[in-house]
Parts: sequence; structure tokens; C-alpha cells
Amino acid sequence: MLEVRNLRKSFGNKKVLNGIDFVVNKGDIIGIIGPSGCGKSTLLRCINMLEKPTSGEIVFAGNNLVDDESHTETRRRIGMVFQQFNLFNHMTVLDNIILSPVLLGILKKEEAINQAKKLLKEIDLEEIINSYPHQLSGGQKQRVAIIRTLMMKPEIILFDEPTSALDPEMIGEVTNLMRKLANEGMTMLVVSHEMNFIKNFCNRVIFLSEGKIREQGPSKELFNNPKTDKLKSFLSKINNY
Ligand SMILES: Nc1ncnc2c1ncn2[C@@H]1O[C@H](COP(=O)(O)OP(=O)(O)OP(=O)(O)O)[C@@H](O)[C@H]1O
Ligand SMILES: [Mg+2]
Repeated sequence: MLEVRNLRKSFGNKKVLNGIDFVVNKGDIIGIIGPSGCGKSTLLRCINMLEKPTSGEIVFAGNNLVDDESHTETRRRIGMVFQQFNLFNHMTVLDNIILSPVLLGILKKEEAINQAKKLLKEIDLEEIINSYPHQLSGGQKQRVAIIRTLMMKPEIILFDEPTSALDPEMIGEVTNLMRKLANEGMTMLVVSHEMNFIKNFCNRVIFLSEGKIREQGPSKELFNNPKTDKLKSFLSKINNY
């Protein structure tokens, strides 16, 4: 459903992504790991065109998103969840959730409200519907952010360190929601430094270093039997998996 071909991204003369190729199939849960600064966030941001790639192709639903910036309709089907939630603090949970689909004319306001209520109820959050973000815990904020993304009916969701801003006791609420989405067949790309989570949650893992894919494969294989020195060295510095 998504193919990244020879993707390159530089900021000025700093090369951040140096030719990335991979394919995402429907239902894939792909982990993206690698040292800080290796380009993980930049890769996700390029995939949904928050950053314009320097060159290469991102083919999604038959369209090369890099070629033609007018593929807004197609891009909308790629959701993104950020480490810092990115909720609007002056708006209630409900208003945050319905903002984009109503503004873009995807749902009528009433439909959006009903859908928001239904999604919040499914994860037992209906009581916070009129709260403001500052009244919520981190785990609640991130689940609201995920629901906001779901309102756009994405076919794939990109998660950039969705749990790293959370207190440890709240990580489970967010990963449980991610598991629920996975069980429902959602396709996901997940950047995380939580190797244990990546190992158990993802069916495939991509290891990036210095803007290149150094290794990729089934997650258990990658963690149990790393082949490259770079991955061996990266994993040896981490002891939580
Ligand atoms: N807008 C930008 N302008 C200039 N340089 C940038 C920009 N965004 C990212 N970079 C640089 O690109 C490199 C890769 O950054 P990126 O945020 O993609 O890394 P990362 O793998 O997500 O790291 P982390 O694990 O710390 O989140 C870094 O050297 C960063 O400083
Ligand atoms: Mg990052």
C-alpha cells in the first residue's frame, strides 16, 4: 500500500536520509529503530509530507506524493501521532477531535460529534469529552490524539515515539489502544526507543543509522540475531528488551 523509493532528505548541506527503500503492506506493523539523530522522525515526516523530500518517491495508493503536492486527499489517509500529542490547549477534547474532519468537510458536525463520542466510549474516555488538555493525564492526552487521528479514517498511522513523553504507569493505556488498532487490521509505522515494545508489537523492524537502512526483517530475528556490527552495537547499549 505504501512504497518508499530512494528517499533522500537534506537540510541545507546536511544529509539526513541517504536513499531509503522499503515497502509497507496492508496490516503491517513496522518498527523503526536507530540511534538518536539517525533520521527516524524525518522519515515519518517525509512520508506524510510534513517535510518535502529532496528526492525519491513515496507511492501511496498509486500516487507519488512527492511529485504532486496536490495529493491532499491521498495524504489525508496517512495519519500521524506525535510524542507531544499536539492537541490545541484552548479547545476541549471534543473540539480537538472533530476539528479537522469538520473543517475539511469530511464529516458534518453532528456526525463528527457522534463518531467522537463512540470512539471515546470504546476506550472508556467519554467522561473527559468536555475537558481541556491541561486537565488530562499524559496517557489520556495521547489516546485523545490517537482518536483525533482515527477520525480522519486513515489507512496507515505513523507513530513518532508515542509513549516517550508518558509516565511509566500510563504507557500501558496507550500501547493497549495501539494493540486494539493492530487487531482491527490498522497498518502502522512506529518509531520508538522502547525496544521491548517494538520487539513484541511489530512484525517487522527497520534499523536506521546515519540515514540509511542497515538491516530489516522480522522483529524477533532482528533482535535475537542482529547481523550488522552497527545493529549489534546499538542493541548492546540497550538493555530493556
Ligand atoms: N528542520 C530541520 N532543520 C535542520 N536539521 C534538521 C531538521 N529536522 C531534523 N534535522 C536534523 O536531522 C537529523 C535527524 O533528525 P531526526 O529528528 O529525524 O532524528 P531522530 O532519529 O528522530 O532522532 P531522535 O531519536 O532523537 O528523535 C538530526 O541531525 C537533526 O538535527
Ligand atoms: Mg525523532
